[in-house]
Amino acid sequence: MAIINTALGRYENNILSVLNRMMNFTVDQDKCTKCGLCAMDCPVLIIDRKTEYPTIKEGKEKNCLECQHCLAICPQGAISIFGKEPKNSVLASAPIPKAMELENLMQNRRSIRKFKSEEVDKELIHHMLTMASYAPTAKNENNVHFTVVEGREQMDSLRQLVYQSLKDKAEKEEIPTRFQYLANFSKVWFAKNIDVIFRDAPHVVIASAPENGTSPLEDCTIALSYFELLANSNGIGTLWDGFATNALVDVVPEIKGKLQIPEGNKVFMVMLFGKSGRKYSRSIQNPGGNITALAL
Ligand SMILES: Cc1cc2nc3c(=O)[nH]c(=O)nc-3n(C[C@H](O)[C@H](O)[C@H](O)COP(=O)(O)O)c2cc1C
Repeated sequence: MAIINTALGRYENNILSVLNRMMNFTVDQDKCTKCGLCAMDCPVLIIDRKTEYPTIKEGKEKNCLECQHCLAICPQGAISIFGKEPKNSVLASAPIPKAMELENLMQNRRSIRKFKSEEVDKELIHHMLTMASYAPTAKNENNVHFTVVEGREQMDSLRQLVYQSLKDKAEKEEIPTRFQYLANFSKVWFAKNIDVIFRDAPHVVIASAPENGTSPLEDCTIALSYFELLANSNGIGTLWDGFATNALVDVVPEIKGKLQIPEGNKVFMVMLFGKSGRKYSRSIQNPGGNITALAL
């Protein structure tokens, strides 16, 4: 679906009927009360409420963001789209964390630089990444891709690949001055086995997205923020890994091919995770946001 949408400009109108079928916008007439909420909430205003029951305005299918707001807002659960049935959604009345619980999580999340050697259950990793993909993306492009290292063995290979590539680049004097510290980390790794870049973590997740997307950096960062909070709520520590990001993006981008990053995607952010080897007894005390209440 996404592929057809992005390429739609190249198609003539006859594709629209195909697209309409693919959108599969259906209204259960026994349930629909014609309240009009679906049409009012549609961000691109392509739902017609003047028809007997809501329909997609002719010729406007290509504008659909695939956001599923129509399905989500219908109080009666009368609308399905893209084959998604309302009964399979999580009800908005399902329990959510109390504000204070969420605040506690946000205040007590720490950057973890010492991990236990044990691995996180693979199913849990995949579940958390699936949930992280609920993070919003600009224009609902939903193009963030997670490349995840599921265990120590792969992690060792990745570590070796990155440090060796940095070493090779350093020997050829091809590391820009501002990233010289990465050459030093590589030296420390080979001389003392100290892993400054990956902190001996058992897992890493690399967020990538098409470079020509609307806001790929923001999309990747927001997705990993979701992942971070969810991981912490599952007792798993995380570290935003700017060093690894710099290495993969700016210094040894050629190894991207070995990391199964999808073709055409650029790496935007790297995050380490695993069971924390540190236990913090209390939160830090942040100086507080820099806030200005606008007074014009
Ligand atoms: C985008 C980003 C990149 C970061 N990169 C690194 C890194 O490469 N290595 C590291 O040890 N910490 C890294 N950090 C962690 C910050 O140093 C850390 O968030 C900050 O010191 C506050 O500590 P806290 O996260 O425990 O509150 C990064 C944080 C962010 C947000």
